[in-house]
Amino acid sequence: MNRIVVLPGDGIGPEVTTQARRVLEAVDQRHGLELGFEEELIGGVSIDAHGTPLRDEVVALCRESKAVMLGAVGGPKWDDMSVDLRPEKGLLGIRKALGLFANLRPAQVFPALIGASALRPEVVEGTDMLVVRELTGGIYFGEPKHISREEGKRRAVNSMVYDEEEIARISRVAFESARIRRKHVTHVHKANVLEVSQLWMEVVDEVAKDYADVELAHQLVDSCAMLLVKEPRRFDVIVTGNLFGDILSDEAAMITGSLGMLPSASLAEGGMGLYEPVHGSAPDIAGQDLANPLAAILSVAMLLEHSLDAAEAAGEIRDAAAAVLADGHRTGDLVLEGEARETIGCRAMGDLVLEKLGTR
Ligand code: IPM
Ligand code: MG
Repeated sequence: MNRIVVLPGDGIGPEVTTQARRVLEAVDQRHGLELGFEEELIGGVSIDAHGTPLRDEVVALCRESKAVMLGAVGGPKWDDMSVDLRPEKGLLGIRKALGLFANLRPAQVFPALIGASALRPEVVEGTDMLVVRELTGGIYFGEPKHISREEGKRRAVNSMVYDEEEIARISRVAFESARIRRKHVTHVHKANVLEVSQLWMEVVDEVAKDYADVELAHQLVDSCAMLLVKEPRRFDVIVTGNLFGDILSDEAAMITGSLGMLPSASLAEGGMGLYEPVHGSAPDIAGQDLANPLAAILSVAMLLEHSLDAAEAAGEIRDAAAAVLADGHRTGDLVLEGEARETIGCRAMGDLVLEKLGTR
């Protein structure tokens, strides 16, 4: 039995993971993947039930699984808690505990959605990039970090820290990914200011020597943010640290039309992976059957590919999602303001994907 742990989390997390799980169960039946599911709490719902965003038992269960499917964490209910007790801490905790250092966030324009982008169609057309974000280091985890009071003044400290091994292993993931894509890597940094980025430059250049077939460019993060909306097609694989990757992956997502479309994979050494939509918990629309489940469903495709070696099943899911969009079906996030178009709910979108898969 291949165990899959499902962590729906908060906000729209449960709605979108329900649809994603239906899709995974359907392809399991067809392809005989022998999956077994276990559901657990993470984030705010875990705080409410157990007083902590992530229990050790949940980490242990995930360790003994093939892959983890996650929804989203966080919401206004828990916004006033200290950083250490917030729902987000559960997500950061599980990334760290499972060693999920490589976060892959593909941003691809679906032809049917070109009109849904806030950018002009001729700018976004053909955009197809992969953001490779380092996920267990950098300023998210660096020490020291604290808020203190010194001489009557409040002061806060976070530290951006990377060692050469952390940089080298994420760089290798980027170069390997580029090899099976368009063979171009853009390393994004702030080396004109940050020592950390200067080390990234050196180490990425060293790793690049093993990948003579892949072209490498270094790009400052501020100008990268600008080029992403100006010429998104120029990017193939982007490799960068935790904080820059967080910001640029949201930007890349919006180019493709909606944050509601973007899947992600977070991989450890050895194949264990956690799969989650890039979007957050969207508390404003939670529980109303308004969310777009496609990012979660496309994350299942990544799970099949990276953790179950089932590339064919992954392709079927991607084709089904593209076909539903080509038929004109849209959740609310995929409709531009002022556009007169009927929208469908989260469950209906899941139904349509299952129908296209021929499993419903
Ligand atoms: C993401 C999210 C998380 C992050 C938050 C929820 C902690 O924004 O996965 O991009 O910053 O990594
Ligand atoms: Mg983010």
